[in-house]
Amino acid sequence: MLKDRKIILGVTGGIAAYKAAELVRELFRAGAEVQVIMTRSAQAFVTPLTFQTLSGNQVTTELFNLIEESKIRHVALADKAEALVIAPATANIIGKIAAGIADDMLTTVVMATRAPILLAPAMNVHMWENPICQENIAKLRSRGYHFIDPEAGELACGYEGKGRLAEIPAIVEEIRTLLSPKDFSEEKVLVTAGPTEEPLDPVRFLTNRSSGRMGFALARAARRRGAEVTLISGPNALPVPQKVKYVPVRSADQMREAVLNHLQNASILLMAAAVSDYRPKKTSPEKLKKSLLETVLELELNPDILAEAGKKKDSRIIVGFAAETENLLQNAREKLKKKNLDLIVANDVTLPGAGFEVETNIVKLLDRSGKIEELPLMSKEDLADRLLDRVARLRKS
Ligand code: CTP
Repeated sequence: MLKDRKIILGVTGGIAAYKAAELVRELFRAGAEVQVIMTRSAQAFVTPLTFQTLSGNQVTTELFNLIEESKIRHVALADKAEALVIAPATANIIGKIAAGIADDMLTTVVMATRAPILLAPAMNVHMWENPICQENIAKLRSRGYHFIDPEAGELACGYEGKGRLAEIPAIVEEIRTLLSPKDFSEEKVLVTAGPTEEPLDPVRFLTNRSSGRMGFALARAARRRGAEVTLISGPNALPVPQKVKYVPVRSADQMREAVLNHLQNASILLMAAAVSDYRPKKTSPEKLKKSLLETVLELELNPDILAEAGKKKDSRIIVGFAAETENLLQNAREKLKKKNLDLIVANDVTLPGAGFEVETNIVKLLDRSGKIEELPLMSKEDLADRLLDRVARLRKS
């Protein structure tokens, strides 16, 4: 979703300016067209050449450069931008913007642009807490400027406290949010992710292969598009998405309970979890000694959470997933009908680039009318948006 998006990154003069290099890299990697504007003091910390190399674009430092410019550059930049991000944003730049000062390239572009503006402050904790700085921030917030707050921790000035630039992935996520349509703002989206674990004893369990990436990507994408999101997930090693209600669970039974608790309130269910179909019939509260372990395990069927949700469908949109190794379409179609779904995401996990521990997937979307949409290999991040596009169309039909 960041591909070919035009982003202006303003870098101001703080020690965190070097972290902006990583931000440019991440944005460039995601395909964004990044145009960096540096203030004079930023250039005391990092050279324009660093940003030029990483962004592949000329870095702007001066307001007027009569040799290079034939157009009014600040207006051209301001008009072209789809989002303007200032990271790090010093107390000084925040104060200048709040006061309406436009005396260099960055503040002039801020004044001239109609693009949404995100500021990522980074400064000494006392500067951050200074009432003037906080008043400026409150004023800008009330005018529609977006902020990603600094984090608490050890600061470059030697102090401990709030003032460290937010983590780069969190800033990238906020930029994605800024650039996303808000077509899910009326929706309450319930997403499940990850595997379930069915314990045999406190150290042994049955599970499915699943990293949770697809469900987490869906939760983030729905949140960016304005939805209120609840994410119920089995064990995983992923960072919890921001501004999402996160409900960690372990077994299929716990996931079932959590889903049924939240379903009433949800307008969309995206069931990406790889629920374990079976569980051990007996679970021992103590670790079983090897000598007591049986070589044949007695199993019992877990509840089918999705099928149960399908029975309480009402006007909800319900999307299921089918991970298959053979007869992909036929199996997926049967599951769509049996579980009363609107859409099923069929996934041949034997294909390279599809399935479990990878960042990408190749899927086919099947709906109730029998229509099949084949999607090419893409990142789970992109797939999440494509899937939501499809859900949005189902909602309208
Ligand atoms: N699912 C569920 N509860 C289960 C098993 C699966 O809610 N106990 C959901 C999954 O989250 C997924 C969909 O059902 O969205 C696909 O289920 P899958 O396990 O592939 O289908 P099964 O009915 O178990 O069929 P099979 O194992 O025979 O392929």
